[in-house]
Amino acid sequence: MRIRWLVLFLLLFSYTHGVGVNKKMNLAIIPAAGSGSRFGGEVPKQFLVVAGAPILIHTLRRFEECTEIGAMIVALPANEIDHFGEVVRQAGFEKPVRLVAGGAERSDSIRNALVAGRDYDPEVVAVHDAVRPFVTSHQIAAVVARAREVGAAILALPATDTIKEVEAGLIQRTLDRRRIYRAQTPQAFRFDLLWRANESARADGIPAAMTTDDALLVERLGCPIAIVEGSPQNLKITTPEDLLLAASLFQEMAGRMGREDHE
Ligand code: CTP
Ligand code: MG
Repeated sequence: MRIRWLVLFLLLFSYTHGVGVNKKMNLAIIPAAGSGSRFGGEVPKQFLVVAGAPILIHTLRRFEECTEIGAMIVALPANEIDHFGEVVRQAGFEKPVRLVAGGAERSDSIRNALVAGRDYDPEVVAVHDAVRPFVTSHQIAAVVARAREVGAAILALPATDTIKEVEAGLIQRTLDRRRIYRAQTPQAFRFDLLWRANESARADGIPAAMTTDDALLVERLGCPIAIVEGSPQNLKITTPEDLLLAASLFQEMAGRMGREDHE
């Protein structure tokens, strides 16, 4: 009788924990190896402390909170790995956070992280800029879910300005605004698809400096990529003005949470 209960328990456990059904995890890749040339200053922008923590740590927390993500790989400047490893340890993440050296261009950094990512045999990989700390775990989960269905999905924002195509200072044509979106991150892909897209770009000699986002590489293969509507809050900290905006957004969030605590 006791054995029967044990078997029943094991069956239930394996079902609820995905054991034996080969459920793969989803991985986050956070490129954080840039030098922040447009931002300027001594310390690369992703390491600046705002609202009590480096921007990169705020970003990692959003992925720690998202139940869809099993592990995070961060690409760092090679000379920051030891120091930032300590910062990550002190931040006390429960999920594995692996640090790899980045490369000269963003896509080189992604490449190094993808090589390390193969060890996890992930189903989906979500790539997200270290300098977008306001992404929500809900947005991450939505992009991962669409990528699982379609193969690839990115967060993007409908254009609000009218966009002109210009050559030598003269307007060539006006694009139909209803068809224009601004790409954000996260950008999520079935891992095999992003790997194949990377291999193909390398084989075809696509310059790393031209690959400003990862969706571009998958577009080259002619594979569909879904849009998940993003939010203006998911800003990328590029210039010192963006940092001022980020500081006030953090303050507003802290105020909101403080008010909720008192309700
Ligand atoms: N990134 C990276 N490796 C690089 C270049 C960029 O991992 N060789 C990362 C940045 O750290 C950032 C993200 O890619 O988190 C988006 O890049 P961007 O905002 O352009 O940052 P930087 O390249 O550092 O800034 P800039 O282009 O002004 O030099
Ligand atoms: Mg850059």
